[in-house]
Amino acid sequence: MLLPRRLLLLVSSVCLGASAQDRSQSVFVASSGPKCCDALRAKLPSIVFARGTPEYNTRLSTYYLLQQQELSPTCTVRPSSASEVSLIVKIAKDSQCPFAVASGGHMAWKGSSNIDEGFVVDLRGMNQIDVSTEDQTVKLGPGSLWQEVYKVMAPYNVSTIGARLNAVGVAGYLLGGGISFASVDKGFGADSVYNYEAVLSDGRIVEANKETNPDLFWALKLAGTNYAIVTRFDMYTYHSPTLWGTLSVYPSTSPTTSELFAEFEKYAHDEKNRKDMKAVFLSYSNGIDLTMTAQTNLDSTPLASMSSAEPIMHLEKVGTTHDVVDEVISNAAESTARTAWHVLTTKADTDFFMDLYAMGKTIFESLKDRKGLTRTFNFQVFQKSFIEGAVHGPTYNALKRSNDDLVCIVNFNAWEDPADDAAMKEATDALGDWAEAEARKRGILDDFIYLNYASERQPVYERSVTPEDLDKMREIQAKYDSDGTFEKLWKGGFKIPKKGGGALAGATHHDEL
Ligand SMILES: Cc1cc2nc3c(=O)[nH]c(=O)nc-3n(C[C@H](O)[C@H](O)[C@H](O)COP(=O)(O)OP(=O)(O)OC[C@H]3O[C@@H](n4cnc5c(N)ncnc54)[C@H](O)[C@@H]3O)c2cc1C
Ligand SMILES: *[C@@H]1O[C@H](CO)[C@@H](O)[C@H](O)[C@H]1NC(C)=O
Repeated sequence: MLLPRRLLLLVSSVCLGASAQDRSQSVFVASSGPKCCDALRAKLPSIVFARGTPEYNTRLSTYYLLQQQELSPTCTVRPSSASEVSLIVKIAKDSQCPFAVASGGHMAWKGSSNIDEGFVVDLRGMNQIDVSTEDQTVKLGPGSLWQEVYKVMAPYNVSTIGARLNAVGVAGYLLGGGISFASVDKGFGADSVYNYEAVLSDGRIVEANKETNPDLFWALKLAGTNYAIVTRFDMYTYHSPTLWGTLSVYPSTSPTTSELFAEFEKYAHDEKNRKDMKAVFLSYSNGIDLTMTAQTNLDSTPLASMSSAEPIMHLEKVGTTHDVVDEVISNAAESTARTAWHVLTTKADTDFFMDLYAMGKTIFESLKDRKGLTRTFNFQVFQKSFIEGAVHGPTYNALKRSNDDLVCIVNFNAWEDPADDAAMKEATDALGDWAEAEARKRGILDDFIYLNYASERQPVYERSVTPEDLDKMREIQAKYDSDGTFEKLWKGGFKIPKKGGGALAGATHHDEL
C-alpha cells in the first residue's frame, strides 16, 4: 500500500507518457553468464529462457522498479518444484554462477532481485495456493502474488497477513516482515508463517518450524538472501468474509493536515481498536501538495474520515480482501515506477513529520521541474500490540527496546527520465540522511529499519536486530550456508554483515551495481 501516484496524477488531470525502457544501452562484459546458462540448459532444457524470448521478457516486465527492468540477466530459469530449485542451486554451486532470485519482483532497489549477466531464478511457476478450512491455514508457493492469494481465499471467507497491493509477491514480502490490515493485532506476515519448506545451498530440501530446524525457522522471519530459497510458506489464516476500506485524497492545507495527524497520533497510541488500520500520505505532484488517507476495518464497519475537509477523491468499499485491495487500495499505485526509497522509524511526532515534509521540498527544490516528479511520505504504525505480535521473529527484541508505539515512515520519490536517476537517488539519500540525523537529535529516532521498504544503502541487520540476535543469525547462517555459497553467489537482497563491521558502519555488505 504505497503509491498514491496514480491517484495524484488523476487528481491533477495530467497524463504522463510511459517511461522509456531502453534495454539496448546495457553494456555487456565477458562473464560466466553464458557458461552458466549452458550448464542449466544441459540439465533443465525446457525451463531456461534466453534474452529476447517471451518468457524472459515477461519476467523482466513484472519488476516494479523500472531500473530493475533495465538490468539484463543472461537467462532466466523457471522451476516448478523444490527439487528443480535444488538442482538449480547445485548447478550454480558447481559452476560458480552468480544468480538472483525473483518472486513478485517488487523490491524497490536496482539489483535487489535482478542481475546483469548471471541468471534469475524466476519463481512465478511455483504459485500453489492451497487453503485448508479445517486447520485454518494456507500453503503458498513463493511465486504467488497476493492478488491471487486473496482471490483464492475469498470463497472460504478467510484472509491472511499479506501485502495491500496486488502484484506484490508472497516470498519477498514474507521474508522481510510484511505489514498488513491485521498487523496491529497479529504482527508481521512472517509471524503467521508456521512452517517453511526451503532449499539450502548444498541442495538439501528442508522444513523449518518450531520443532524441526527451529533456529532456521526463527531466522527466516527476517531472511533476506542469507539462508535458503524458500519453496513453500505455510501460514495461518483468519476468518474474514469482508472488510471495509477507503482511500481519500485532500488538498494539503495546514488545518487539514493538523486535524488528520492528530487522528493519526491517536491511532498510533490506540491498542484497543485492533480491527483498524490507518495510514497517511503526504505528496507533491505536478506542483500540488496533497494528503491521502487509507483506512480499513476488519469488521466491515466504516470509520469516520480522518479530516473534516471535503475530499477531492474518495474510494470506499465493503468486500473481500481481494476486492478491497483490487478496487480501492491498489488504485493508489502505479504498477511500475522509476523511484528511490528510504525508510526510517520514529516515535509518533507530528511536528517532525511536517518538518520532514518541508525539508523534502527544500532538498528537491532544484529538481521540482523534472518530468513526472512525485514525492511521497507514507506514515504507518507499529503499535505496541503490533510489536507484541512480532514476538516470534528476530526483530522483536530490537523493536520492544523503545517500549513505545512507533511510526514507520517511507519516503518514495518517482520520476520519469532515466537521465534523472542519479540526481533523484542522491536527493532521496540526502533527505534520508537528514531525517535520521534530525530524528536522532530530537530523541525520537528508533533504530529499526524495515527491510521491505529499505534502500540498498541502509544497514538493515545492524539496526533492526539486537547485537546478540545478530550473532545468533551469523551462527545460523554458518550452519545452513556452511561453505558460503549463497553469501558469494546469490546477488541482491539484504545480507547479514560480517562481524566487526561496526554497529553503524553503513550497509556496504550488499551488492552494489
Ligand atoms: C507497490 C508496492 C506495494 C507494497 N505493499 C506492501 C505492503 O502492503 N506491506 C509490506 O509490508 N510491504 C509492501 N511492499 C514492500 C514489499 O513487501 C517488498 O518490496 C517485497 O520485497 C516484495 O516482494 P516480492 O516477492 O514482490 O519481491 P522480489 O523483488 O521478487 O523479492 C524481494 C527479495 O526477496 C528475495 N526472494 C524472492 N523470493 C525468494 C524466495 N523464494 N526465497 C528467498 N528469497 C527470495 C529476492 O531475491 C529479493 O531479495 C510493497 C512494495 C511495492 C512496490
Ligand atoms: C461465507 O460467508 C457467506 C456470507 O457470510 C456465507 O453465505 C457462505 O456460506 C460462507 N462460505 C463458507 C465457505 O463458509
